[in-house]
Amino acid sequence: MPKLTSLKEFITENQKDFNYSTSDLSCLLRDIVLAAKVVNQDIQRAGLLDHVLGAQGVENIQGEAQQKLDVLADQAFIKSFLEGGVVCGIASEENEDFLAFDATSSQAANYVVLFDPLDGSSNIDVNVSVGTIFSIYRRISPVGTKATLEDMLQAGNKQVAAGYVLFGSSTMLVYTTGNGVNGFTLDPISGEFFLSHANMQMPLNGRLYSVNEGNLNDFDPQLRAYLAYCQSDVNQTGKPYSGRYIGSLVADFHRNLIKGGVYIYPAVPSAPKGRLRLLYECNPLAFIAEQAGGLATDGNQRILDIEPTELHQRAALYIGSKEMVEKAMGLV
Ligand code: AHG
Ligand code: MN
Ligand code: MN
Repeated sequence: MPKLTSLKEFITENQKDFNYSTSDLSCLLRDIVLAAKVVNQDIQRAGLLDHVLGAQGVENIQGEAQQKLDVLADQAFIKSFLEGGVVCGIASEENEDFLAFDATSSQAANYVVLFDPLDGSSNIDVNVSVGTIFSIYRRISPVGTKATLEDMLQAGNKQVAAGYVLFGSSTMLVYTTGNGVNGFTLDPISGEFFLSHANMQMPLNGRLYSVNEGNLNDFDPQLRAYLAYCQSDVNQTGKPYSGRYIGSLVADFHRNLIKGGVYIYPAVPSAPKGRLRLLYECNPLAFIAEQAGGLATDGNQRILDIEPTELHQRAALYIGSKEMVEKAMGLV
């Protein structure tokens, strides 16, 4: 068997590709991996632990019922970033406001992280894949001061890295620093992530579509026409595509990244600006999609070019194989 490349070795070997300090990147990924392992442990034993499974009993800032694991994951990542010393502040789906870290070492740090601690959290109780999605920016405010809202409200095209940890049938870390996309699988025996999916490329076209069809009656005519095309035999495969919708964006995205497919969550009356969060979900996955040869838009414009105006901003999302997104948008 050829020798496996660990995440640490991969970062060192590829350091010439990074346009920023390798040690910073490696520390940041170390912090993410550390928290991910804590969350992973909780998820693996969720049904056995009272403090892990089920609802927290409160709503988050988005008005959604928080799961206990939403809160545990949020706390695990914040603790890791606080202690790691390379992050000056964070914003998370689960917190009303962003956090600017007080410690002098944190204020001396260069980066902010925006994240969805647990995506697909309604799936925890039924033992279906969930994940953590993260987005990393260089700060705008001067080093040595506290992080500001401006640091958090940057367009997705300013991301220096983005990725996700998928807690699926195996646990994977997939990330990009703007030089392609690589995937690592957690070896539960050694506790290390090893390179398993080098230079991931999203197929240009595919035969999977992911959409909550319960909302079909609220979709605009163009989207309905695209779904009719997916379900017909006039598409490039000569037979209907398969519908695949997990309800965990991160897992739907990961499958479509590997197999080719499109995920669509348009604006609907119950979510007039879209359901998904621009900063914690759309931007990081859009960066990964583009780096793998795919596309991400809100139905009209490139996700990465949207200038955010608020932390918990929502967006419509069309993401996946390039030709499928273009077709869904009515461009071809
Ligand atoms: P979260 O669990 O972080 O709130 O995100 C859930 C998101 C996304 O993961 C999923 O694809 C979508 O919401 C599902 O929404 P519907 O139940 O409306 O289809
Ligand atoms: Mn989410
Ligand atoms: Mn979430």
